[in-house]
Amino acid sequence: MIGPYRVEGYAIVSADDMIADGSGKMPPTIRNDADQKFLQDELDRAAAVIHGRHSYEGGPRGGRRKRLIMTRQVATIAPDPSHPNALLWNPAGAALETALAALGVAAGTIAIIGGTEVFGLFLPSYDAFHLSRAARAKFPGGRPLFPQVGALATAEDVLAGHGLTPATRRDLDAAAGVTLTTWERRRP
Ligand SMILES: NC(=O)c1ccc[n+]([C@@H]2O[C@H](COP(=O)([O-])OP(=O)(O)OC[C@H]3O[C@@H](n4cnc5c(N)ncnc54)[C@H](OP(=O)(O)O)[C@@H]3O)[C@@H](O)[C@H]2O)c1
Repeated sequence: MIGPYRVEGYAIVSADDMIADGSGKMPPTIRNDADQKFLQDELDRAAAVIHGRHSYEGGPRGGRRKRLIMTRQVATIAPDPSHPNALLWNPAGAALETALAALGVAAGTIAIIGGTEVFGLFLPSYDAFHLSRAARAKFPGGRPLFPQVGALATAEDVLAGHGLTPATRRDLDAAAGVTLTTWERRRP
């Protein structure tokens, strides 16, 4: 939690824990319809979506969602001329609570959808992290899920190291080899 906000992360990774290839693109092998449906339905329930400047989720309902788009191109918070329901936000200049208040979001779930640096920034705060995996995709030299992921740490190592434990696991698309594991923070 951050104040009155529940924090949930959403990502699909390759077998080697990458969210995109080395050029910053998501190849078709990591895109999956069942995962997209899960993500889009979850984002419809969120009070706000937060992501970096390259990670807009798209889809026909995307424009209706309240969102913070992280960028260093603004000093604090600014309107986004191309997305009326969004604000541009630089966390170095304005607190998250200030940005969400400016967006008109007083409480509820905020959905963190990447990319790498953004996923890493919220690691101390996730109440849940929904980690999909496309087991047949592999992107050596790609964009890792978290900045810490590499030769010495898997995505699971990083989540466990930040107090999250795997709670549920299911097949999203067995034929395509896509699974979903939801990690949760156990609170005393
Ligand atoms: N597989 C998945 O689940 C998944 C999830 C998310 C994204 N992706 C894919 O990954 C690729 C992009 O990844 P990415 O990591 O480069 O994207 P990103 O986080 O969406 O965008 C990076 C940009 O966000 C801004 N930003 C990031 N951290 C910031 C901070 N602490 N403070 C202020 N601004 C910050 C910066 O924008 P400025 O340059 O404007 O300052 C930075 O250049 C895309 O192909 C995307 O589709 C995949």
